[in-house]
Amino acid sequence: MERRRFSYEVLVFLLTLLLFSLTCATASSSDPTQLHDHVEQPRRNLLANGLAKTPPMGWNSWNHFSCQINENIIKETADALVSTGLSKLGYRYVNIDDCWAELNRDASGNLVAKKSTFPSGIKALADYVHRKGLKLGIYSDAGYLTCSKQMPGSLGHEFQDAKTFASWGIDYLKYDNCNNDESKPTDRYPVMTRALSMARRPIFFSLCEWGDLHPALWGAKVGNSWRTTNDINDSWESMISRADMNEVYADYARPGGWNDPDMLEVGNGGMTKNEYIVHFSLWALSKAPLLLGCDVRNMTKETVEIVTNKEVIAVNQDSLGVQGKKVRMEGDIEIWAGPLSMYRVAVILLNRGPWNISITANWDDIGIPSKSVVQARDLWEHKTLVERFQEKLTAQVDPHGCKMYVLKPVA
Ligand code: GLA
Repeated sequence: MERRRFSYEVLVFLLTLLLFSLTCATASSSDPTQLHDHVEQPRRNLLANGLAKTPPMGWNSWNHFSCQINENIIKETADALVSTGLSKLGYRYVNIDDCWAELNRDASGNLVAKKSTFPSGIKALADYVHRKGLKLGIYSDAGYLTCSKQMPGSLGHEFQDAKTFASWGIDYLKYDNCNNDESKPTDRYPVMTRALSMARRPIFFSLCEWGDLHPALWGAKVGNSWRTTNDINDSWESMISRADMNEVYADYARPGGWNDPDMLEVGNGGMTKNEYIVHFSLWALSKAPLLLGCDVRNMTKETVEIVTNKEVIAVNQDSLGVQGKKVRMEGDIEIWAGPLSMYRVAVILLNRGPWNISITANWDDIGIPSKSVVQARDLWEHKTLVERFQEKLTAQVDPHGCKMYVLKPVA
């Protein structure tokens, strides 16, 4: 009798176990971005690593240097970020883009820094950058080769590469999407997420699949930022259209995971000062990564003035972490706005047209209660306007230009 009850209990236990594993298997196969339960914990650890509470700030080599990079450029850039005061303003990531590695892995399958351009290796570079209080970022690809085809991608080597990056002291990984096996990014990117979380070093994970499979919808489970567009170039059309494409995903941005309309072109020479001001203002309000893409060793006064605007940076880095949106469009006129901490609102009056124009922001459009009286701070003039505003605010705006304000209720 005693023996019969024992085997009955064992049978019930085994059946419960079977039922439980079947439930888990169904749950994880119904969502392509859902990681299997045995790796769920490491993924949570990655997202709980405290990174990206506000959008990342720093520099990346691609927009200005393309493949013409070497360790001196990276070191001198780190030096310049410190000597110009940019690092104190938050620009701390020094990110190496494509073309840093040899085309062939070593005999054990490890990535190897390119001997001719990075002779001291990446670990030495990370040590150098860390000694300056900065962070080092690197680049790989969820395919067999990177976009330049000059170095390998990490597909099939995710765990090994993540371990390598961690052992070098890497702080940020941009992960591109070229030359892959044509499986979905939602299959390939989470593998690197897991690999990074197991590498036991907090590494900012930047998904660069160009918005192909609407990464805003699944990116927050996988990385700390996701590109929403294909590549920017240094022109008004390219810049403004990337801001538009990124804007539609505004509701998906939040502390820990941000929409990325691509890196900054400010200072590369293809746009006017007003256009670069629009570029910087829109990126800031959109809570986009502020990754400089110019040669910070040789910036003009004008470039410095734009990228060091503390008040605009503060909008980007505001603790509320809500991405601003287009709240009104009328031909060439647009109003962009978004809430900030302490009941404040950031507003951009944007003139996309070729003539000077008067633009009005109505409280109804920008989410301020209609009877509120506000004080307006002009972030590019660095002036608090004497007038108190009720119902609306109007300003003259230059062609391809903008005004940017922070509005604060005073009554
Ligand atoms: C892709 C990315 C770019 C850059 C290049 C490098 O085009 O979108 O940002 O990293 O690859 O080859």
